[in-house]
Amino acid sequence: QNDDDQLVIDAGQKQFGATTCNSCGMLYSTDSPEDNFQHTQFHQRFLDTIKFVGWKKERVMAEFWDGKIILVLPDDPKYATKKAEDVRRIADSELGFQQVNLSSPSAAKTYLFINSDKMVVGCLVAEPIRQAFRVLVQPDKPKDMTKDDFMERHRAWCCSTMPEKAICGVSRIWVFSLMRRKGIATRLLDTVRGSFMYGSPLTKEEIAFSDPTPEGKLFATKYCEN
Ligand code: ACO
Ligand code: ZN
Repeated sequence: QNDDDQLVIDAGQKQFGATTCNSCGMLYSTDSPEDNFQHTQFHQRFLDTIKFVGWKKERVMAEFWDGKIILVLPDDPKYATKKAEDVRRIADSELGFQQVNLSSPSAAKTYLFINSDKMVVGCLVAEPIRQAFRVLVQPDKPKDMTKDDFMERHRAWCCSTMPEKAICGVSRIWVFSLMRRKGIATRLLDTVRGSFMYGSPLTKEEIAFSDPTPEGKLFATKYCEN
């Protein structure tokens, strides 16, 4: 099996009995009882977590034809902070984060993208920071590297040793798998830049991504060059 086959499976096409649930987005094999069981376990819990009933007081930061972005702050009512935390946990488990604690929970701002079907399909956690280390450009994948080596290297990163001034750290950014490539992450970040510091919009340079995934890196690179 070569790399191309693998990419096809990753993209979620129906292959070798693998299927992507078109409501929760889980990729599983319908032929495997174990997979079916895991899917059943995950499915409802996931949909309940991203369900958004609407709140009496919502801090609406932006509105779009296909949804809106609301901001949740640490001192908000319990139902709001709980929703933010539950969605963050989903993002964390997808990112493989072990530790669910934030570096500065009392200052963390959670931006949620709610779509027109009343689901939280995007989540961004932003925290105030003072400095960041610029990620250095990586050479292309060498011929003798396997895909896993390559991914591992991209995770490991290569950073400048010189700190640069930054104001806002993005410690999590996550978009529901079935809703990706629709500009949701872009709109979340644009909204953060416009609202993180009252009265003074942030430049792209003043935003830093903490420990990004390969996907996060592709997104951040694209976002920062525009
Ligand atoms: N591969 C290549 N380019 C990409 C990808 C990708 N997977 N995702 C985004 N881009 C680039 C594209 O150029 C895209 O524009 P295009 O669709 O017109 O080509 C541009 O970025 C803007 O993409 P958006 O639609 O705004 O991004 P999206 O809403 O799909 O969210 C995200 C991107 C958040 C990385 C999403 O894929 C995701 O949730 N992935 C899993 C979780 C994750 O890895 N998060 C980042 C962790 S790092 C951190 O949290 C600090
Ligand atoms: Zn499902």
